[in-house]
Amino acid sequence: MALDRMTKLSWIYDLYQLGQSSHLLEDPDKIYQQLLAHIVTGFDARSGSLALLTEEQNSLTIVAGIDLPPHVIGCSVALGSGVLGWVAKEGQPLLINGDLDPQKYPGIQRRREQAAPSSALCWPLKLRDRVIGALSVNRPAEKTPFAESDRDQGTAVLNLASLALENIQLRLDQQRRFAELQATNQKLAEAQDQLLQAEKMASIGQLAAGVAHEINNPVGYVASNLSSLGRYMDNLLSLLEACDQLDASLSGDAPELLALRALKEKIDLTYLREDLHDLLAESKEGLERVKKIVLDLKTFSHVDEAEWQVTDLHQGLDSTLNIVWNELKYKAEVVKEYGTLPEIECLPSQLNQVFMNLMVNAAHAIESQGTITLRTGHTGEQVWVEVSDTGKGIAPENLGRIFDPFFTTKPVGTGTGLGLSLSYGIVKKHHGNIEVDSTLGKGTTFRVWLPLRQAVKQENG
Ligand SMILES: Nc1ncnc2c1ncn2[C@@H]1O[C@H](COP(=O)(O)OP(=O)(O)OP(=O)(O)O)[C@@H](O)[C@H]1O
Ligand SMILES: [Mg+2]
Repeated sequence: MALDRMTKLSWIYDLYQLGQSSHLLEDPDKIYQQLLAHIVTGFDARSGSLALLTEEQNSLTIVAGIDLPPHVIGCSVALGSGVLGWVAKEGQPLLINGDLDPQKYPGIQRRREQAAPSSALCWPLKLRDRVIGALSVNRPAEKTPFAESDRDQGTAVLNLASLALENIQLRLDQQRRFAELQATNQKLAEAQDQLLQAEKMASIGQLAAGVAHEINNPVGYVASNLSSLGRYMDNLLSLLEACDQLDASLSGDAPELLALRALKEKIDLTYLREDLHDLLAESKEGLERVKKIVLDLKTFSHVDEAEWQVTDLHQGLDSTLNIVWNELKYKAEVVKEYGTLPEIECLPSQLNQVFMNLMVNAAHAIESQGTITLRTGHTGEQVWVEVSDTGKGIAPENLGRIFDPFFTTKPVGTGTGLGLSLSYGIVKKHHGNIEVDSTLGKGTTFRVWLPLRQAVKQENG
C-alpha cells in the first residue's frame, strides 16, 4: 500500500467505520461505491470494481465501479469468467502486470469494454473461507505497477472489507425481514377487519331475519282481524241502511226519532260511511307493504339458506332495492332494464350484499339528483348485472384502487372502504368478475359477470 504507517491506521479505521455507519443503509449502492472508492484511494489506484456473489452462488454481480462505464454496474459475471470471476472461483488473489499469461491462467478473458490496465490487483472477498465476492483495483501505465507486497497486504486488509460488507448485508437483510414482517402484520390486520365486516354483515342478516320472523306473527293476526272487521263493517252498514229506510218511512216528531236524526247529523254519518271504506282499504294496503318488507328482509338475509342454490337474480335485486330504497329515493330515479336471466347457481344472500354495496355506492356518487339504472342480461354461459349511475364518476388515478380494502374517498367515519373489496371477494368466490367503467363528472357503471353453474364450489364462508 502506498500510505505511511499513521495514514494506514486511519485508513483502516475509516474502512471499519464504513461498515458501521447505519445512515448509509438507506442506499446500499452508495455504501458499496464508498467502500470501493476508499480501497481504490488506499491502493493509489485509478479504477476498480466490486462484485458480490449472488444468492444462487453461481455468479457475481458488479455492485460498484470506479472509473468504469456506468452500464457495467449491475452486470453479471459468471464464476470462472474474467478476472473477477476467476479470482472468486479459485479463492486466490491475482497480480497482473502487463498481459495475462494464457498458459498460466486459462479461461481468463478480459471483458471487451475494459481497456487493459497496465497493473491490476484482484482479491477474492472471503468470510471464514467462504468467498462472498471479488474486488479489483487498477493502475494506469504512468503509475508504478503493483508489487507482490501490495497483493499480500491487500489480502489482510480486505478481510476487514469483507466483514464490513457482511455487516452491511446483515443489516440490509434485517431491514428486509422487518419490512416483510410489517407487510405480513398489515395483511393480518386487513384480514381481521374483513372478517369483522363479514361477520357484521352476517349478524345484520340474522338480526333482519329475526325481526322479520317476530313481525310476521302480529302481522298475521292483524291481517286476519282486518278482514273480519271488513265483514262486520259490511254487516253493520247494511243494518244502518235498513234503519235509514225505516227512518225515511216514518213521519211525525216522536222525541226518539228527532234524537236519532240529530245524532246522524252530529256524527256526519254520510261521510263516516265513505271514510270507513277508505280507512279499511288503506290499512289493508299498509299491511300488505309490511308483509312485503318482511318478505324482502327474509329474501335479503337468506339466513336459512346459506347454501349454494339455483335462483333468480331478479328476485334478489328487487328485494335488495327495497331494503336500500330509503337511501336512494331522495337522490335518484331507479330505472330497471331487466333482460331475460336464466336461474344461476349462487349464494343468494352474498350476492345481495354485492348488489347492496353497488346500489348504495351509486346513490352516494350522486350529489343532488340523478338516475340509477339496473340492467341484466346473459350471453352464453354467463349472466351479468349492471348498476349504473349518473353520479360524479371515479378519478382515473383511483380506478385501480377502488377494490383495495380500506380504499375510500368518503369522509372519515362515513365509508370503511370495504364495500367493494368484499364484493370483489364474493364475486370471485362465484368464479365471476366485476368490471367498472367510469367517466369523471358523468357517471359509473359496475358490471358483475357470473357463471350459470359452479364447476368447483368453494366453502360458503
Ligand atoms: N358508483 C361509484 N361512483 C363513484 N365512485 C365510486 C363508486 N363506487 C365506488 N366508488 C369509489 O370507490 C371507493 C371505494 O368504495 P367501497 O364501496 O369499497 O368503499 P366506501 O363506499 O368508500 O365505503 P363502505 O362501502 O365501506 O361504506 C369509494 O370511496 C368511492 O371513491
Ligand atoms: Mg361502498
